Formats: sequence, structure tokens, C-alpha cells
Amino acid sequence: MDSKNTYEKEKNLILEILKQKGEINSQNLADELKIDHQHTIGIINALEIKEIVKTESKEKSCIILTDAGKNCLNKGAPDIQIFKELKEKGDLSKSELSTKLGKNVLSHGFNLAMKSKSISYDKKTDKISLKITQLPLKDELQETMKKFFESPDIDKYEPKLIKEYSKIYKFIKINQIKSFIVKPGPNFELGNIKMKNELTTDLLVNNEYEKEKFSKYNYNALGKQVKNGALHRLLSVRSQIREIFLEQGFEEMPTNNFVESSFWNFDALFQPQQHPSREAHDTFFLSNPKMANTEKFYPEYFNKVKDIHEKGGFGSEGWKYKWSADEAEKNILRTHTTAVSSRVLYKLAENYKKTGIFVPKKYFSIDRVFRNESLDNTHLAEFHQIEGFIADYDIGLSHLLGTVEQYFKRLGLDKFRFKPAYNPYTEPSMEIFARHPNNKKWIEIGNSGVFRPEMLLPMGLPSNVNVIAWGFSLERPAMLHYHLNNIRDLFGHEVNIKHTQEASMYYIKE
Ligand code: PHE
Repeated sequence: MDSKNTYEKEKNLILEILKQKGEINSQNLADELKIDHQHTIGIINALEIKEIVKTESKEKSCIILTDAGKNCLNKGAPDIQIFKELKEKGDLSKSELSTKLGKNVLSHGFNLAMKSKSISYDKKTDKISLKITQLPLKDELQETMKKFFESPDIDKYEPKLIKEYSKIYKFIKINQIKSFIVKPGPNFELGNIKMKNELTTDLLVNNEYEKEKFSKYNYNALGKQVKNGALHRLLSVRSQIREIFLEQGFEEMPTNNFVESSFWNFDALFQPQQHPSREAHDTFFLSNPKMANTEKFYPEYFNKVKDIHEKGGFGSEGWKYKWSADEAEKNILRTHTTAVSSRVLYKLAENYKKTGIFVPKKYFSIDRVFRNESLDNTHLAEFHQIEGFIADYDIGLSHLLGTVEQYFKRLGLDKFRFKPAYNPYTEPSMEIFARHPNNKKWIEIGNSGVFRPEMLLPMGLPSNVNVIAWGFSLERPAMLHYHLNNIRDLFGHEVNIKHTQEASMYYIKE
């Protein structure tokens, strides 16, 4: 039978029952129809709109059986279950009875039977023996459970009895359920009439409306869900994190070049060319175009970087090796957005050289980076970094700690730790760990540090300007927020479009 027919049939049955009884509680109605209470209420609501029925709501306390209660109902009182076993098999140990009857029945029944002195227990031999010859004729507990099961209305019982069965035996629980008294409404006699939902021009022009019955306006009906565009979950988090930085006066860096020269990605950051992270097993190299033209555009700075690597300067000893311009010109997919920071810092230095004025600046960016990683549940070969730096006179580690702390508190993470780390371009360097709010594990969420003079001075920045900087993960806090264990549920072709439509906008704690 299709669902519409079933509905009609149930509706007619309800009307029939009401005709016979005059009024009925919705719970009893559901029991009579043998359908779910919630489902019954749905039908009643539809009938009420047409005023075929009317209702009064009622809170009722109902008895429901616990697991122990159900066991008693089906298998008898726990002490009687023990008597029966002992009668049949003779003395038994606790563990034998427990295997047969279950741990709870044993401990419960044991206490009851000891209290009524109908068994004895020898601790030394671990034997339980029956002290009575005749089993009780009536299982009172089981009888009472039957009554509770058949008529669960709490008003029918003495409060003392309810207390005994809920507090002492723990066989029942009290549940508050909302039910309705259903009565015939003003349109009841009309039965199952068709009613108009709308007043149309036709009905008005011919005065047809006078002959019609109209259903009542339902002010509580929910509107249709509007289909609208939505941000992907990751982009939703990203746009909210962007707000955090913009609110604090940070400017956004241009991150539109996924392809970067090794020069800006590594060399400008004083990362020696032999550094293992520059090898193909960590970095994606481009085969076409293979080389960038950095030297052509920045000849002076290009050579300054070469010098600081080979010979040092500004009090540094450099890395002492033969720096290769070819290596620096290799095109790669940027491995971090610190490449963007190095370009922006270079521009600030150029501006300072031109104007003689250095204006303190705060910058951030959130965009994609690429690494030749082995893929697993928490790693992809491309991910997003939240990059940022503050360039100002005489700032240092304490400013960095404060800035990082502020940022993560806005994200609702308040338990974090700093761990000493190493980057060729920062000193000191710190990794940042946050505690997962659910599983209490510490997970790495970022890396940070104070940019080294070997990076800043060849650019031409004033020597008393320090730059504190960081690179945070976007995916990690997003996974924490959405309770995901697999990064593929957040990023890539397996993302569920429904999750995108429901992307929560309440990420940042106010
Ligand atoms: N580039 C670093 C990384 O990818 C992050 C970082 C940025 C560290 C700036 C220090 C300063 O992990």
C-alpha cells in the first residue's frame, strides 16, 4: 500500500475511534492503532488544522522498564532464577551462576536471597546452597513488572511501590511524555471533507467561496528551505580566519602564484641549497618552464643573496659553499607561503630605500602550498597555510608569543604549547601544538619564529626592524571544528556537497 493510502486509512480509523469514545489520549490512540506516537501526532495535527478534531496538551509520567526490569519480566525475579538453578543442579559457585544468569542477575538475586535467608554461601568453597525446600509459589516481582508493562500510567500506582521498584530494585524508570487529549472539533461531523487552502479569484468572482470550507491558517508551519549558494567548509573557515586578521589591522598579501622560483621560496629565506627539503622527494619541480628569470628582474638583490649564502655578512658567517644561480632559478610549486612573505618584505625594503621611511606593517595570507608528501588521513600533497608577519622596530619573541596566543584563543583553542624547533630562516623558532578538545591529544598546528638578519638585511631593511612570523595550518583547526578524522572529508573530490550546504558559520568564538 502506498503511503497516501496508509495515511487515509489511519485518518479514518482515528475518526472512527473518536466517534466511539468521544475523546482519547494520543498515546492510547497510538497504542490502539499500533503506530508510533509521533506519527499519530502528525495525523492529529493535520486534522486539527481543518478543525475536525481539537486537542489539549498534557504532560504525563510514564513507567518504562530498565534492562533489569525487562529481565525480571521475561525470566522471573533474580532470586527465583537462582533458586531454580540450585534446585535443578545442586550447589553452584558464584561464577557458575554468573555465567548462566549474567552478572547483574546474580548479584541482585544473591542479595535478595541472602536477605530472605533462603540460600547460604560458603566463602571458602565458593558454594551457594539452597536452604529452602519449596520454591515460592508466586513470583511477586515478576507479577508487578507485568502490571507496569501492561499499564504504564504512573497515576495508577502507590508512590511507595514506584519508589521501591525504581530506587531499590532499579527495575523501572519514570519518563515524562507529552501527549494530547484528542476530542472532536467543530468540523467533526463533516468527517473527511476536502478543504480549500487558498482563496482564489475564481472563488471570489462567482461567490463560490460561500460554499467552500477553508482550512485554518497554520502560523506554526515552517517555510520552505531556501536553496542558496554556500561556501565550502574549508573556505568558510578560511573566510572567518581572514576576518580575525583584518579586524586586527593586518593587510592581505597577494598569493596568486602557485609556481614560484626556488629563489623566493628558499634562497631569499637563507635556506642553503643542500638543504634536504629542497630535494625532489619533498618539493615538486616544474619541467616547463623549468627556470625562472629572477636574476633578470632583481639583479642587485640576487647577488646579495648569493653573498650571504657564500661568505656571510652583517656579522654572519654565511653557509660557506658555492651558491648556484641555476639552482635558485629552478621553478617549483611553492612549498610554503613564506615565499610570499619574502617577496612582500623585499618590497617593503625597496620602499624604505626609496623614501627613507620605514612604516611598521602587519601582513597575512591564507592560500595553498604543495609538498611531495606521502598521502594519508591527515596529509595531502596540497594544503593551505595561514601565513603572517609583523615588521616593527624592536619587537621579539614575547610579541610573537602574545600574537600567536591571541589568534588561537579567537579560534576557541585555549590549551596550547610551544616547542623549540628549527627553520633556516628564523631564530628562535617554535612549533605550536594545541590540545584536541575531544581526544585530548596534542596536535601540531603551526610553526613560527623571528626572521633572521641574514634574511632581512640583504633586502635592505633597517637593522633595528625585527620581523616576527608564523605559518599555521588551515586544515587542522577546520578538522577539529568539524570533528573529522580524514582530511579527504574536508578537501578533494570526496567532499559531501550536503556538508558544504550546511557549513557552520559559527566558527569564531565572540
Ligand atoms: N614556513 C614554515 C612552514 O612551512 C612556517 C613558518 C613561517 C615558520 C614563518 C616560521 C616563520 O612550516
